[in-house]
Amino acid sequence: MKIKNICCIGAGYVGGPTMAVIAEKCKDIIINVVDVNEERIKKWNSDHLDELPIYEPGLDEIIKNCRDKNLYFSNLIEEKIAQADMVFISVNTPTKKKGLGAGKASNLKWVEECARQVAKFSNGHTIIVEKSTLPVRTAEVIKSILDEAKNSGKRNDFTSKTFDVLSNPEFLSEGSAINDLVNPDRVLIGGDNPEAIESLAAIYKYWVPEEKILRTNIWSSELAKLTANAFLAQRISSINSISALCEATGADVREVSRAIGSDSRIGTKFLDSGPGFGGSCFKKDILNLVYLADFFGLPEVATFWESVVKLNTWHQNRISQLITKNLFGTLSNKKIIILGFAFKANTNDTRESAAIQICKDLLEEGAYLVIHDPKVSPRQIETDLKKAIFQTNQIEDKSNNIRESNWSFANNLSSIFKDADAVVVLTEWDIYKSINWNDVSNLMRHPAWIFDTRSIIQGIDVKESGLNFWQIGDGLI
Ligand code: UDX
Ligand code: ADP
Repeated sequence: MKIKNICCIGAGYVGGPTMAVIAEKCKDIIINVVDVNEERIKKWNSDHLDELPIYEPGLDEIIKNCRDKNLYFSNLIEEKIAQADMVFISVNTPTKKKGLGAGKASNLKWVEECARQVAKFSNGHTIIVEKSTLPVRTAEVIKSILDEAKNSGKRNDFTSKTFDVLSNPEFLSEGSAINDLVNPDRVLIGGDNPEAIESLAAIYKYWVPEEKILRTNIWSSELAKLTANAFLAQRISSINSISALCEATGADVREVSRAIGSDSRIGTKFLDSGPGFGGSCFKKDILNLVYLADFFGLPEVATFWESVVKLNTWHQNRISQLITKNLFGTLSNKKIIILGFAFKANTNDTRESAAIQICKDLLEEGAYLVIHDPKVSPRQIETDLKKAIFQTNQIEDKSNNIRESNWSFANNLSSIFKDADAVVVLTEWDIYKSINWNDVSNLMRHPAWIFDTRSIIQGIDVKESGLNFWQIGDGLI
């Protein structure tokens, strides 16, 4: 089946960039990206490309080339499903907050809703592609909803509908999404109908070499996605655990990373110690694995993977505590500059960002924070901090002792350092690499500290400016 019309449900960090690249590479396919969120769709259609809802290098250029030619954004969910030969499901699947599997299992409410919409509004044969990160066996849920639609169609003598379900997990990394999509290491397609698999493979073959397109059964594909993210996160927790040991023993985690990374069996990637991994996928996917392992009676497997998340949380707390300790054990009446709030550079995404936990801890210690990020909006920061503080208050049953006036947002770096006691680098944005620490030192209140959790600051410049310096995993400072 040659695909001519695609509908992607969900115009978020996965759906938006993925469909933009397919549109750019496959000019003869019509692509409709639909979303329930009207504000988000309005932003995708904005004439001002800097207003797109997602910041991703290179995305604006593709949107300029393809939008309203073969790529359309709208809220017309029913109509666009009806026109499509292939429907991608790219909706959010956050961790469940209550009920069965709370805190671990993914909430599939939105995926289920999509399956029902496809069942209702599709015509003829439709291939459904799971793009969102999903727990293993989600395809089964989708299939049973679709089967029901098929059967009720027959009973009521409606036009007969047929479906195939494929798993095609996304491996793109935010900040380099366009490059990851254009030059993928591999494309994974899981399914049980070879014809449906080849229909999707034919789309990728427009630009991806055949040997990079892997076909598997549907469960292997779903599990491979969770496993890939769990392995990557595990490397980060491993190196972060070693950073603490480096600080205690006089070793340097950068040297350790370089030494182990040059072993070709280990490799150099994902060995940068930082403030702890963030992003929408790592924690969620590991917790899904934990839930699955428990569900299938494998508690040792569950405990093994859960420790990766526990280490990450411990590591973030460790950073907040050492900041407090170095500032004489109290942050009351102290001004701390936070450089970076996104979970990594080159994205405006803050989901699970280490900055949320660390800022919350510092606020609880009584600090006054000035937060800078070149791409994250003050509104987003406010939402994240309020949520984090609210959650702690609920768990610990204490009243909210943090006032909104305890932090502010800075648009630019000029003059924010005045009278500050400390600067904490939490995101590795390029602009922080060229800060003149001499000028900063003249403005700060001494003794003053610079805490670099991302290894992007030249310690020698900082120290020569009369500032105290701490860098992640450096045991010689
Ligand atoms: C991840 C996976 O890489 C991607 O394949 C999947 O599709 C989605 O999840 P993403 O969340 O965009 O992508 O970011 P990634 O680059 O993997 O970084 C995740 C977190 O780990 C960030 O907070 C980052 O700062 C941190 N990290 C990464 C480190 O602390 N050290 C490293 O060496 C690498
Ligand atoms: P991801 O990082 O997985 O792309 P996002 O939260 O950025 O996640 O995007 C998911 C999008 O899916 C959101 O814009 C949300 O409004 C949309 N969405 C969720 N459920 C539905 C639905 N049933 N129909 C259409 N859009 C939906």
